Amino acid sequence: MNRFGSAQERIQQLRDEIDRHNQLYYVLDDPQIPDSEYDRLLRELQGLEAEHPELITPDSPTQRVGGTPLKAFNQVQHRLPMLSLDNAFSEEEFASFARRVKERLGSDSEIRFCVEPKLDGLAVSLRYEVGILVQAATRGDGSQGEDVTHNVRTIPSIPLRLLGEDWPQILEVRGEVFMPKAGFERFNQQARRLGEKEFVNPRNAAAGSLRQLDPQITATRPLDMFCYGFGEIEGGNLAQSHSASIGRLKQWGLRTSPELKTLTNLEQCASYFEQIAARRDGLKYDIDGVVFKVDSLADQEQLGFVARSPRWAIARKFPAQEELTTVESIEFQVGRTGAITPVARLKPVFVGGVTVSNATLHNMDEVAKKDIRVGDTVFVRRAGDVIPEVVRVLVERRAGDVAPVQLPAHCPECNSDIIKPEGEAVARCSGGLYCSAQRKQAIKHFASRRAMDIEGLGDKLVDVIVDNGMVQDLAGIYSLSHAQYAGLERMGDKSAENLIQALEKSKHTTLARFLYALGIREVGEVTAAALASHFCKLEAVKQAESNDLSTIEGIGPIMAEHIIAFFRQSHNLEVIQKLLDVGVHWDEVEAPAVETQILSGKSFVITGTLSRPRSEIKDELQAMGAKVVGSVSKKTDYLLAGSDAGSKLAKAQGLGITVLDEDGLRWLLDSF
Ligand code: IVH
Repeated sequence: MNRFGSAQERIQQLRDEIDRHNQLYYVLDDPQIPDSEYDRLLRELQGLEAEHPELITPDSPTQRVGGTPLKAFNQVQHRLPMLSLDNAFSEEEFASFARRVKERLGSDSEIRFCVEPKLDGLAVSLRYEVGILVQAATRGDGSQGEDVTHNVRTIPSIPLRLLGEDWPQILEVRGEVFMPKAGFERFNQQARRLGEKEFVNPRNAAAGSLRQLDPQITATRPLDMFCYGFGEIEGGNLAQSHSASIGRLKQWGLRTSPELKTLTNLEQCASYFEQIAARRDGLKYDIDGVVFKVDSLADQEQLGFVARSPRWAIARKFPAQEELTTVESIEFQVGRTGAITPVARLKPVFVGGVTVSNATLHNMDEVAKKDIRVGDTVFVRRAGDVIPEVVRVLVERRAGDVAPVQLPAHCPECNSDIIKPEGEAVARCSGGLYCSAQRKQAIKHFASRRAMDIEGLGDKLVDVIVDNGMVQDLAGIYSLSHAQYAGLERMGDKSAENLIQALEKSKHTTLARFLYALGIREVGEVTAAALASHFCKLEAVKQAESNDLSTIEGIGPIMAEHIIAFFRQSHNLEVIQKLLDVGVHWDEVEAPAVETQILSGKSFVITGTLSRPRSEIKDELQAMGAKVVGSVSKKTDYLLAGSDAGSKLAKAQGLGITVLDEDGLRWLLDSF
């Protein structure tokens, strides 16, 4: 064999191997060689192709990113139209779809459906001729789309050539190109850092990325594709059913939905929909419903189409997550630490399954950035249990002369000056506990379950006692008598009695809870616990200096400042003294028994979706002596990452911190 022959053979070997590893890595999520090894193979192939340019073929893994940018997109005529789907918005609508299907098929038995989530990306048709990807096109108007082959080739999970050999000579595969949520977050973070434009949502990001003339740009965007259907097929067959045909696509190296199932009755369909809806936020990509397709291809053919949708498929949609409404007014709320938060009062609108009439605007920078004004028509978004958000203003609907929103000079609650330090986004009321709004929030926090845990001292009651001028500070709640509580509206003798008992009981607490309950800025439960176990005594915390504090995991310079500032304020010291005087106390904190705890001194961060509630895992880790903190830093020892881990994972990897999944954690614990 001559040199040329062996180069050709080696090139083929390398391409096969690289394709196989691409498939393992991008399609099956099951990488089997380290990245360095993969890079070595790719470099060897690049080297050989550089020596033998005549051997380069378009399906070579080195050829994903093409040469020069396009001037414009070419139009592609779809040989079979790319259809859309009918929608069902309720279980009843789905049931009547299933009934119609049965009637048309004249069938008595249950219909088998192939089901999977409806992806919120954009539909793309891939055309393979003799196993080679020759064209990719967007849906466009269904009969004509844009040629995006150059961009689609850069998506690593899309094979440039199909695996195996039993594919039809012409195979058009349809599916959804999307940007996974984590990639979207990463992309926007970077855009923010560089001062570039962010995308509104992952779907726009996917569409914007595919509509680039320069494939070099698309290649940097984290796109993926799930295939869910077919266009033209010639010179070969798929299977008898939709689900089995999708199974073939998988064998040929195309990525399909891991959630795909076949179901045989309405109850199963309803419960699949519910399950997917419940898991929606935890999925790695955006979805907006579930697609149900009659599984038998013969039945599909018999059912045919109406207008632009097949009679054999339907999308059951989740309630819309974005709606238009108007801003009726913008008010300013005062938080526990005096932070002034602008809040939009909205014309009530049903979005994401609930009626929304308020949305926080966070701070004045945000209001200015989004340019939100009273009377504006705005997009409101509510996804899952995320708080409603004003996404953007429809400026073209604004009446001419509305002035931008101004930060008030005085607190709407107590009229003290509002101060916005230079360079900070948050403005604050300077009234402290003189401000009734801050006092209310401070007492609510103090009484809350994870702080002093005063059962019966609910938000409404706190509002009443503050509004009536009955308490001036945190200690005040302990000084009110049974009669004073019992005399309040909707408070009987019995509830006052219970409350007095709860107040008494709360006096026996822990130093950690007490520190947390004080409501020191930025000091959450974890930091409070860290302070308690580091200093053991309240007196020591009060006198802590910034160099002491900075040795504690999770306490950075800003938090240290807040802690020191809190204990410098004489009125805070007075309130603490009053609380001790009314009998608040705790057991001595013992210095942690370092030797007996296997994780002592180790710091953990937990991120992503795990098999159990995070708080449960956190409690266990803490019980073994670990510190569990909220953000990754150089001081972090381990990141416990579940699925959908985003920026924390990236940061931990960047810092070379050990990343564990739940199995890894078990293994770590077993190894002690
Ligand atoms: S099946 C005959 N399956 O929804 C039409 N479509 O509203 C076959 N879509 O344009 C479509 N996820 O872009 C199907 N799992 C899925 C889908 C899906 C998203 C999109 C697709 C289509 C649109 C119709």
